[in-house]
Amino acid sequence: MFSRSRCGSLVTSVALKMWNQLRQRCLIVIPLLCVLSFGLANALHGYANAEGQPPDMLATLPGQLKFVHVIYRHGDRTPVDPYPTDPWGERKFWSTGWGQLTNLGKQDHYDLGKWLRNRYSNLLPFQYSNEDIFVQSTDVDRTLMSAQSNLAGLYEPQGEDIWNADIKWQPIPIHTTPEKEDPILAAKAPCPAFDYELATLESSPEFKAMTEKHRDLFAYLSEKAGRSVKTFVDAQYLNNTLFIENLYNMTLPEWTKKVYGGEELTYVANFAFVISTYTRKLARLKAGPLLKDIFNRFEEKSSRRLDPDRSMWVYSAHDTTIANVLNALKLFEIHSPPYAACILMEMRLDESNTPLVSIFYKNTTAEPLPLDIPGCGPSCPLKSLVSLYQDVLPVDWERECKRTTMMMTYEEANLGTATGILILIVIALLFASYGLMIYYRRRNYKLYTSYSQMA
Ligand SMILES: *[C@@H]1O[C@H](CO)[C@@H](O)[C@H](O)[C@H]1NC(C)=O
Ligand SMILES: *[C@@H]1O[C@H](CO)[C@@H](O)[C@H](O)[C@H]1NC(C)=O
Ligand SMILES: *[C@@H]1O[C@H](CO)[C@@H](O)[C@H](O)[C@H]1NC(C)=O
Repeated sequence: MFSRSRCGSLVTSVALKMWNQLRQRCLIVIPLLCVLSFGLANALHGYANAEGQPPDMLATLPGQLKFVHVIYRHGDRTPVDPYPTDPWGERKFWSTGWGQLTNLGKQDHYDLGKWLRNRYSNLLPFQYSNEDIFVQSTDVDRTLMSAQSNLAGLYEPQGEDIWNADIKWQPIPIHTTPEKEDPILAAKAPCPAFDYELATLESSPEFKAMTEKHRDLFAYLSEKAGRSVKTFVDAQYLNNTLFIENLYNMTLPEWTKKVYGGEELTYVANFAFVISTYTRKLARLKAGPLLKDIFNRFEEKSSRRLDPDRSMWVYSAHDTTIANVLNALKLFEIHSPPYAACILMEMRLDESNTPLVSIFYKNTTAEPLPLDIPGCGPSCPLKSLVSLYQDVLPVDWERECKRTTMMMTYEEANLGTATGILILIVIALLFASYGLMIYYRRRNYKLYTSYSQMA
C-alpha cells in the first residue's frame, strides 16, 4: 500500500501511531458500544413484550412459503439413569421404564402437531401423502413415539383418510437408522477426528480452568450421589434426573437443596450443551451432516429438483440435536432445550424465485422466536446462508472423520509395531552376518587344514 520512499515510511510510522491510538480508544469504545446496544436490545424486547404477541412473521416475511424443515426434541420422559443413592431410583416408581416417553410427553407432541397443522395448513394438504412430507427419527423409543404422537396431531384423518370411525388416528411412516450407523440425525456414527478434537479441547488449559472452577460442586455431587461427577456432562445428567423427579413431585433428598435449582448447577448443566460444538471443527463434524442435508434439500427444492417434490421434512431427535444445530449456526443462547423444543427452518421464494431462509425457535407454548441470522437477518438468501456457514458444512464427512497420523499418539499410530518390526529386521541381519562370518571362517579353516594335511 505504501511506496518504499522515505516519505512512504514516514506515512507508515504516522499511520501506525494513529492505529495504535485508535486501538487503545477502541478498547474503551467497543465495550461501551456493547453495553449500550445490549441496553437498547433489552428496552426493545421489553417494548415487544409490553405490546403482547410479536407480529405474525408468516405474514410479514417476504416471499411465499414453499418448504419447511422441522427439528424437534421428544416430549416429557422418565429419567434415563437414576444415581446410586437415589430414593426414587427403583424401577417401580417409573411405570414405563427408563428414558421412555410419558403420557405428558405424548400430549406435548400431539399439541405441537396441532400447532404445526395450524401454521402450515397452506403448505401441507389435510390429506396425508408421502409426496408432501418425510419424517425421520433417531432410533430411540421416545423420539419414535414422539413423532407418532406429533403426527397424530398433524394428520388427524379427514374425509378419505378415515379408515375407522372410532379411531381419530392414521398410520404415517417414520423412518429411522440405527444410531451407530447414523451420522446425520443421531450423529453417533464413529468419527475418530471428532473424538480427537474433543479430547484436545478437554485437555486444553482454557477448558481445564473452566472445569476447575466447579471442582467443589463436582466433589459435593460425587459424594452425595454416590457416583463420580467429573465433567459438565456428568453434572448435567444428575441435574436432569433431579429435574424430572422434582417435576413429578417426588421429594428430593435434603442434600440437593444446597445445589439443585441453584445458579452454579443450572449453569453447568446448561453449559454441557455447547461442548460438542465448542469449536467450528467440532460443530462441522457433529452438526455439519444435518445442516448440509437441510441446505442441499433447500437447494433442490428451489431449483425444482426435489423428487418427490415435498413441502415438509421432519426430524425427531434430542435436546443435544437442538443445541448442536443452533450452536453450529451461532444462534444458541446457553440453556437446556425443553421438551418438544422445536426449530423451524422455512424457505420462501420471492417474485424473482430467489430462495430466502428464515429460522425460528419454539421453546415455549407461545409463538416461535424469529432468529436473527448473524450478518444476514431474519430472512436470509439461501446462497448467503450457505456461504455464511461454509465452515461447518463438511465436503466429505467420512474422509474428514479419519484421523491422520499427526493426530495419533505413538501407540495408536502403531509406531510401536513399526519399531518392533525394524528391531526384528536388524536382529535378523545381525544373525545373518554373524552366520556368514562363521561360514567364511570355517571355510578358511578348512582351506587351512587341507593345506596342512597336504603338507
Ligand atoms: C437443570 O435443572 C434446571 C432447574 O433447576 C432446569 O431448568 C434445567 O432444564 C435442567 N437441565 C437439564 C439438562 O436437565
Ligand atoms: C405436581 O404437583 C403440581 C401441584 O400440585 C401439579 O399441578 C402437577 O400436575 C404435579 N405433577 C405431576 C407430574 O403429577
Ligand atoms: C428459549 O430460547 C431462548 C432463546 O434461545 C432462551 O433465551 C430461553 O432461555 C429459552 N427458554 C426456555 C424455557 O427454554
